[in-house]
Order: sequence, then C-alpha cells, then structure tokens
Amino acid sequence: MLTQILKPDGEALALARRIIEGGGLVGFPTETVYGLGANAFDGDAVRSVYEVKGRPQDNPLIVHVHKDYDISKIVCGIPAYAEKLAQKYLPGPLTMVFRSRGTISPVVSCGLDTVGIRVPSHPAAQQFLRCVGLPIAAPSANISKHVSPVTAQHVYADLNGRIPLILDGGRCTGGIESTVLDCTGEVPCILRSGLVTKEMIAEVAGDCKVFIPKAGEKVRSPGMKYKHYSPRCRTMLFSYADRAKAYAEYTRLNGEGQRAYLMCDGACAAEFRPERLLALGDTPEQIAANLYEKLREGEQVADIIIAVAPEEQGGVMAGVMNRLTKACGG
Ligand code: TXA
Ligand code: MG
Repeated sequence: MLTQILKPDGEALALARRIIEGGGLVGFPTETVYGLGANAFDGDAVRSVYEVKGRPQDNPLIVHVHKDYDISKIVCGIPAYAEKLAQKYLPGPLTMVFRSRGTISPVVSCGLDTVGIRVPSHPAAQQFLRCVGLPIAAPSANISKHVSPVTAQHVYADLNGRIPLILDGGRCTGGIESTVLDCTGEVPCILRSGLVTKEMIAEVAGDCKVFIPKAGEKVRSPGMKYKHYSPRCRTMLFSYADRAKAYAEYTRLNGEGQRAYLMCDGACAAEFRPERLLALGDTPEQIAANLYEKLREGEQVADIIIAVAPEEQGGVMAGVMNRLTKACGG
C-alpha cells in the first residue's frame, strides 16, 4: 500500500473522508501527538487499528469528535464537574472517560462499559473530524510501544506501507498525550497525566484524585501497564540530583568509543556543555513539546541515551516524568 502524506486542504480532507467511510485508517495531527483514526462505529476498521499498530487487544482507544459533536449519542451520565471542565479546557488535551451508551463498536473500549472522549484543538484535527462527521477512534499513530509521533514524518517512519494517508499538520505543539480523566465517579480521577494538570482540574472541579495502581488491583487505564514510548536504543535515566553521575557515565561511555548522548533540560546542559546533547529546553512546556522529538532523534544517532530528569517536577512535569520513566524502561 502506498502511503501518501498530504497537507490537509479540501482535496486531502475529502480523500480522508472516503478512506474513513470505506473502513480505512488515516493518520492525523492533534495538538498532543499524531493519531491513527478509524470510524468508531465500524468494528472491522477499529480492529485493523490494533493490527496495524501491533497493539495489545485489551488497551482501549480514545474516541475523537469535533467541538460541536453531540457526545450524548455515545456516552451518558455526564456529571456537572465534567461539564465545567469541558467548558474550560475543551477543545484541548483532556480526554474524559464516561459511561458508554453502547452505540459505538465494543472493540473501541475492549468491552469496557466506558468510553474516553477527546475534542482535540488542532485546527487540522477539527477540520478532519468535521469533514468526516463521525466519531473517530484513534490511538497515537506509532507502532505499539515505540515513541509517539509528533510529526507526519514520524508517523511515516512507523506506518509506511500500512496506511493510505497521513494528514500533515506540522509539528505537534503539546508533545505528550492528553490527560486521561475518569469522570464516572463523584470526584474526577487522573488515569494518565498530561498537559491538563491535576491542579488545573482541581481548580475547576473542586477536587481531583490521581489513580496509582496497587499490586493486584484491576488496572483502570489498561494502557498504563505496558512498556511504552521506548526509543530503539539503550537508555538510562538519572534524577536531577544525580546529574553529575549522569555526566560521568556519559564521559566514560564516550571514552570507550560508544555514542552516548545526554538528554537534559537547559539548566543541566549549561552546567556540563556536553558535545552530544539532546536538548529538552527550558520551560515545562518546551520540555513536554521536545521530549518525543528528542527521543526519536536520539535513537537515530545514539548507542545510548543518558537522560537526566528535569529539575522541576510538578504540574506538566508529572506527565513528562511518567513518559520519560517508561521510555527508559520503567
Ligand atoms: O493525546 C492523546 O490522547 C492521543 C491523541 C492521538 O489523541 N491519543 C493517545 O491514544 O494517546 P493512546 O491509545 O495511545 O492512549 C489512550 C489511553 C490509554 O492509556 C488507554 O488505556 C486509555 O487512554 N483509555 C482509553 N479509553 C479508556 C477507557 N474507557 N477507560 C480507561 N482508560 C482508557
Ligand atoms: Mg499511545
């Protein structure tokens, strides 16, 4: 199969619509990472998303809709706090999990009685969703367990020959996946941290819990149990406090003739000035936006990426640390 990369103009969007209506898959940009979309009503199309990605069959997909889509067609029991959160943060990088009405294919949620709903803010994502007019089930558009894609070229590198079309909306500005928030209880509960932080949710909803899986307990966001976001080279992760040890390891490995790269924030880079640097940037937003780009760049050039956790740990960095820890093997 030939994989086309097209700018999301009228012709490309019309093609995307024909592909989706025919049960095919389309790669599309969002403000977080690129998605791999299928018609959420079409069980066979959704099944092929799992096949193309090599995704485990028990990890549910998020359903994407445009901002005027009536989600009461898909879900029910929307609590008042969720309405307020939607008012404030949607369209944007927040996925809300509600009770399913059972109208979309059960393959989307792997048989769970809930559905994650996301309204992306990227203009091309909105155009695509509006043009298609259907709810679109979409995971990140990478091969399962690989680093999520933040450019059309990243999607192409993983899925070339397996999907007909990638809509190219440029580089994603958010950089890490949406916050997944369970909205089925009295208090919202974060299942996956992201750019909409616990503090931002609590400010609107009054309170916000964070799900921490305990040994033996049923996983509520099945995706969280898998190895994820991993570059195809060796990795090591050091805390910010241990950055001198990280630099010593970097120096030692390069001295042995290995291509070791230091991946760190601006403060750490300025302290050690390594020649082989994967620079994450200075602000939390820059670090989130650069993380996957730098992991993908690193796997092209490095034998080993030596990552140093950013100095700042709260807010958006909770999401970054979650991804960085998993990328470096948990
Ligand atoms: O930013 C994003 O969310 C991107 C873009 C493409 O929208 N999508 C994305 O999808 O990250 P994916 O499939 O890579 O991650 C979906 C996450 C998984 O951790 C999954 O377990 C969780 O959402 N999830 C989906 N539906 C769920 C549900 N009904 N209950 C609990 N967790 C759910
Ligand atoms: Mg993913």
